[in-house]
Amino acid sequence: MSDQEIIVVTGDRTTGPLHLGHLAGSLQARLQLQGQYRQFLLLADTQALADHQGDYSRVRQSVIDVALDYLAVGLDPQQSTFLIQSMVPELAELSFYFMNLVSVARLERNPTVKTEIRNKGRERDIPAGFLSYPVSQAADITALKGTLVPVGADQLPMIEQTNEIVRRFNQMVGSDILRECKALTGKVTRLPGIDGQQKMSRVLGNHIALSASPDEIRTAVRKMFTDPQHLRVEQPGQIAGNTVFTFLDAFAPDQDKVAEFKEHYQRGGLADAVVKAYLEEVLLALLEPIRARRNELAHDPERILSILMAGSSRAREIAALTLYQVKKAMGMFYF
Ligand code: TRP
Repeated sequence: MSDQEIIVVTGDRTTGPLHLGHLAGSLQARLQLQGQYRQFLLLADTQALADHQGDYSRVRQSVIDVALDYLAVGLDPQQSTFLIQSMVPELAELSFYFMNLVSVARLERNPTVKTEIRNKGRERDIPAGFLSYPVSQAADITALKGTLVPVGADQLPMIEQTNEIVRRFNQMVGSDILRECKALTGKVTRLPGIDGQQKMSRVLGNHIALSASPDEIRTAVRKMFTDPQHLRVEQPGQIAGNTVFTFLDAFAPDQDKVAEFKEHYQRGGLADAVVKAYLEEVLLALLEPIRARRNELAHDPERILSILMAGSSRAREIAALTLYQVKKAMGMFYF
């Protein structure tokens, strides 16, 4: 691997199946990067446990679910390396060394962690592992020699913190062993939830799963947030903040039709139900092939596991090399 090679490291905490928000954002970005660069897709089960203490069976099931989602949308294990975080123990060991390169105060200031803690409403009563998850993320990225990390804007502080650790380590050992990475945010769009909240999230319950059935899609679209002031069909309606239109912008193949709808809606005379019927049609067409492929793959769990084994052992070789370089630089070699 040359020093200049761009290596993409990306992944998901495995706390549940993926949804449309992922499809519009990170999955889209990964599909685009897949043909261009070497890419690692990390199923972050260890990190998921920091978020869901003791929920082992759920995290295990989610690893399979997320792998199925990746495959169903067209991420290809021949081109991207799928790995399970816990199957690369070098990541944990590296995290342990990195833990000493960052202060508790700095972790508490990490805006992503701060927001997540606030959302959980737990203040300081959180597992030490949760507070330090940015450190494990830094280990994931650096162990695999990642230089490019496609992330949503909310994960930017993770990249900043990773690079701080990299600089700190390199400075401590007096050699550029670890590489800094760059965030790739432009390609990751953030889809609102069906309730119009700024972010679609399974935790908030405002999501549409990639594996959603036609019935589930229909129900979600019917419930979807529109313009609350648009009470009668003849009234002009608002596009800004109207989730149905945001989804059409993201997914409708016929953007001319969307433009026409917008114009008509703003003028008045276009019913929410009509716009929603079109969105329903768009989402059914989008998700049906994904669901079909997912169901087909789900029949062959052995195949999924062997993809994950193969990817994890490939990643392990690289992580082991990084760990060797790190320990050697620290003088932690005794034979
Ligand atoms: N923190 C990411 C999430 O919450 C998952 C993740 C773990 C990750 N390690 C990573 C993402 C390394 C990019 C690179 O989904």
